[in-house]
Amino acid sequence: MGQDKKFSRTLVTSALPYANGEIHLGHLAGAYLPADIYVRFLRMRGEEVLYICGSDEFGVPITLTAEKEGITPKELVDRNHASIKKSFEGFGMSFDNFSQTSREIHTETAQAFFSDLHGQGLFKQKTTDQYYSPTQDRFLPDRYIEGKCPKCKTEGARGGECESCLATFSSTELIDPHSVLDNSPLELRPTTHWFLPMGDWQEKLSAYIDDHPEWKDNVKQYCRGYFDSGLQDRAMTRDLGWGVPVPLPDHEGKVMFVWFEAPVGYISSTREWAAAQGDPEAWKTWWQDPGTRLVHFIGKDNIFFHAMLFPAMLMAHSEDFVVADNVPANEFLNLEGQKLSTSRGFAVWLPEFLEKFQADPLRYTLARNLPETRDMNFTWEGFQARNNNELGNNFGNLINRVFTFIHKFFDGKVPEWSEEMMTDMDRQALDEVSADLAKWAGHLEKFEIKAAMEACFHAGQVGNRYFDESAPFRTRKTDLERCGHSLGVIIQILRMLALMLAPVVPFGMDKLWSWLGMESDLWHGGWTEGNRDIPGGRPLGTPEILFPRLDDELIQPEIERLARMLEE
Ligand code: MF3
Ligand code: ZN
Repeated sequence: MGQDKKFSRTLVTSALPYANGEIHLGHLAGAYLPADIYVRFLRMRGEEVLYICGSDEFGVPITLTAEKEGITPKELVDRNHASIKKSFEGFGMSFDNFSQTSREIHTETAQAFFSDLHGQGLFKQKTTDQYYSPTQDRFLPDRYIEGKCPKCKTEGARGGECESCLATFSSTELIDPHSVLDNSPLELRPTTHWFLPMGDWQEKLSAYIDDHPEWKDNVKQYCRGYFDSGLQDRAMTRDLGWGVPVPLPDHEGKVMFVWFEAPVGYISSTREWAAAQGDPEAWKTWWQDPGTRLVHFIGKDNIFFHAMLFPAMLMAHSEDFVVADNVPANEFLNLEGQKLSTSRGFAVWLPEFLEKFQADPLRYTLARNLPETRDMNFTWEGFQARNNNELGNNFGNLINRVFTFIHKFFDGKVPEWSEEMMTDMDRQALDEVSADLAKWAGHLEKFEIKAAMEACFHAGQVGNRYFDESAPFRTRKTDLERCGHSLGVIIQILRMLALMLAPVVPFGMDKLWSWLGMESDLWHGGWTEGNRDIPGGRPLGTPEILFPRLDDELIQPEIERLARMLEE
């Protein structure tokens, strides 16, 4: 947080996922789970927060897939949007709004944004030669163009790159260029586009980055690398049929560059949310009031667009917009020690995962392995171990033992406990867990989720140690009052554990919260009471096993499936 600034609300965004496929674990670990954990944490503290996302539905890959499947791009993105939305729900993502960039409200918003910049004369118009297909009567993007490599003359070089000699070149240098769609020859024709002279914003952007020493090093370094070589003019328009039309007369067939309009999708999605609240103007408070703290969660491949291009666009707009106060970008997640590859099917897809497993253990495992500062690795065995040893043994068993015991011997009510009866051991346990809770919160404020998880795990260990040492299973026969008191102490500890675990395993903790008889709404300021406030006599709910064991029979087939993928 910028040291001296006072914010009264937080607007959180996760990168809009491309609607050309399913969500996999790599996505989740990058831009989604960390954001959801952060947002849930703020909501628990009763802060004003809005969490915005949607699917990113324009661009060449979408048209390519749609053409392959013989459906329209709109049919493709609607289908994928529905499926992405459903799997995010199953995973427990708590977006306040999840929109689509192919909706009318986005076209309107993005066009107004473009017109504002254009009206101020901020774009540079340039004419360049691009490949045109006479048979299809349109300009073709790089991915549709194939030809002989200008260096080694091998046929089939594409996208400015030769797979055979590894040369890179401008696609205008290809020999005998032709369309991959119908093999027809292509010709170069002049076309006009609107460029954003990023260099004009370099000074402001560089001051902006300097103003945020608290940002992650990877993000700052990445940005500074761009400044060193100088920011270039970037084309903000394309000759394509699928995109947001450029809102200027006589420019049919021109659409906005996806990276111009997609981030504006955060604004469109906020507008859609505001309209659904019955207060269509409410989006302005979130985007234009300086009391808003804007945070973009992204994967590292999105840094340029969120820390440079979008802030420049927002600064350029004639109305005052807030710019990101932080851009916590994550590195990548590997799978069984290998790079994910969606084209080879070497990935774990969320819809399939959720058919067989629960979301909580996956969220927990990913939270323990987030690629915060370097690439991390997901393995199925690791998943099994995190579930069985940590969620099951460290947390689930403790919760289960305590509740079962109280139901058996104390009529299902929090046993009477008191400050007077506190021993050093009791106090020490409560203090240690309270300190973990404070540490946990301090880390989350800084987006250090893995460190927060360490504090949470430690608190679980303290709880277990206290249960064993206070030994209610023994004192029950020798000193029933002491026995009840110890259980009363553990109930306070369980409440703190519930808080620390809730953003990570919300499905399980919603249950624990209600079993504890908490009256506050966990997600609307549930973290309000003191750490020793659950009174004796309060009736408790009947628990069930929160985190069932995962046996080899469930895990082995998954390991084998991935191994087969690698052999193919
Ligand atoms: N679809 C992009 C990706 O998955 C992210 C777009 S983020 C936005 O990498 F800001 F442009 F919307
Ligand atoms: Zn070559």
